[in-house]
Amino acid sequence: DSTEGIVIAIDGPSGSGKSSTSRGVARVRNLRYLDTGAMYRAITWWMLSNDVNVNDAEAVASLVERPVIVMGTDPNAPTVTVDGRDVAAEIRERDVTTNVSAVSAVPETRERMVRSQREIIAKARAESAGIVVEGRDITTVVAPDATVKLFLTASAEARAQRRSKEVRTSDVAATQADLARRDELDSNRAHSPLRQTADATELDTTGLTLDEVVALVSKLADEARDR
Ligand code: DC
Repeated sequence: DSTEGIVIAIDGPSGSGKSSTSRGVARVRNLRYLDTGAMYRAITWWMLSNDVNVNDAEAVASLVERPVIVMGTDPNAPTVTVDGRDVAAEIRERDVTTNVSAVSAVPETRERMVRSQREIIAKARAESAGIVVEGRDITTVVAPDATVKLFLTASAEARAQRRSKEVRTSDVAATQADLARRDELDSNRAHSPLRQTADATELDTTGLTLDEVVALVSKLADEARDR
């Protein structure tokens, strides 16, 4: 296919539409899909399940290589397992969501995840497949030479609305406060914070439908490939 071996890197804050967009583009363009946030959630789930104090960076660092985390990259059925156990549902729970920023801020956590993410990208390319990778540091650290680099944004209200729908809550204000807290932590940590760089294309998804965003990204991929 025309997208053979391409890498589409998508960063942005929580609720900016990253996951739906990335999955949608991967589906329509027949690419692999990697949700790196799910990897940080998986390691956080494992730490919590093993009663590790996630605010003790040394404890997190010393245990971070322990669990085996396997990501399935089919955009129609992405999977995440920890030591063979399917944790797709558990990693979306509130307990994980409130603690994931602390675990993600530990340098050893990031080293492990970035290494594993680069392996997954290399494997896709070795199989002549392209891949869409979404997260917070994909355009800056994981795949700075990606074919297409995007930074997705949306208004705080739009992001809170979307996330509330996802987690099925009617308390949009509380969701917006949660998002603001996590963005603040993710953007201000010392080690590879979420940041927008000049070489990534900014895409504000506030007034756009998912189909419109997917079509735009797909077009950008074609343009980048033809360059
Ligand atoms: O995309 P998400 O909300 O599922 O991500 C969960 C957390 O993982 C997010 O709060 C920050 C962290 N994360 C990260 O530090 N780096 C990434 N590449 C992806 C996620």
